[in-house]
Amino acid sequence: QKGGYDHFMLKEIYEQPRALADTVHPRISDGLPSFEAQDDIPEGFWRQFDTISIVACGTAMHAGMIGKNLIERLARIPVECDIASEFRYRDPILGKHSLVLLISQSGETADTLAALRLARERGATTLAVVNVTGSSIAREADYVIRTFAGPEIAVASTKAYSVQLSVMYLIAIRLALANRAVDDARARELTSGLLGAIETTKDVLGLNVEIKEYIKRYESLRDLFFLGRGLDYALSMEGSLKLKEISYIHCEAYAAGELKHGTISLVTEGVPVVAVATQETLLPKMVSNIKEVHSRGADVLLVCKQGLEVDPEIYSKRLDLPALDDLFMPVVGVIVLQLLAYHTAVLRGCDVDKPRNLAKSVTVE
Ligand code: M6R
Repeated sequence: QKGGYDHFMLKEIYEQPRALADTVHPRISDGLPSFEAQDDIPEGFWRQFDTISIVACGTAMHAGMIGKNLIERLARIPVECDIASEFRYRDPILGKHSLVLLISQSGETADTLAALRLARERGATTLAVVNVTGSSIAREADYVIRTFAGPEIAVASTKAYSVQLSVMYLIAIRLALANRAVDDARARELTSGLLGAIETTKDVLGLNVEIKEYIKRYESLRDLFFLGRGLDYALSMEGSLKLKEISYIHCEAYAAGELKHGTISLVTEGVPVVAVATQETLLPKMVSNIKEVHSRGADVLLVCKQGLEVDPEIYSKRLDLPALDDLFMPVVGVIVLQLLAYHTAVLRGCDVDKPRNLAKSVTVE
């Protein structure tokens, strides 16, 4: 059942190139994203909205954070991204030009389902991105985009996140085109950028052994910090959740520029920091934040993009990701963070697939 892997989580990490291709390829028509044939969503659908709310929990919410960044950047439509249990109780402003995008692997998460019902009551259009066919969220949403990750057994979500992310790219490009924020040529370039990123996920899996070796120093760790800016910050949130969920190490993900507003007081000699610095445009700022933690004795693991210049004095180890456009770096970056969490949990003797206190699907509020 585990296909020769020690755990479902590792198997599911390795299934990502296939899951991504299965999810994205049926939604490309003539070099552009289209949800007409696969999901019965007409092209005109994407032109109706003034605002978008992305609502989800846990890992799915982290995919939503990337979605917000992509949609705002490419389609220039304001997007808010909320944790479902917060969205429900903050009396959200919604109307007939609002799109509420619910993301859920299981399609059964109680708070996400309740947020969907609230959105419908308030006259918004609901679009659900779900992995499980026939789930409650899939049944109740106005429109559904199915992800094709296949069954995810490990409690820690990996391949479901990646496919959710890929749908965020498709939606962002589709919205950008429909609302004339990009022209046809640019939309095609972005679509082929996404397909290229998916191809390179196979190469990133090749970092597995190097990561396994490096994390030996995390065996008796208590705390760890992730730092990132922009898309790397959203990715750090996911890396941090993954690590704490299965290895029981206390971690925090920080927007690197925010560190000096308080949290840097926790960075002392030997404190491990995973610096996610894949965004070329933000690199000088990230480097100065890495220098700040390095000068206080932090043990820095740098997750970077091939070819970017960073002074080797300021980190202990560098992991290089394929040199894609900044926009697509999360597609490859997340794999490194998943492997980091996985090997750390194995090293510490944790029950990787069934971490304590957690259920695969959270059907209580
Ligand atoms: O099934 P859902 O995607 O709605 O689940 C949401 C969260 O419960 C889920 O992503 C959770 O955070 C995972 N255990 C994270 O690995």
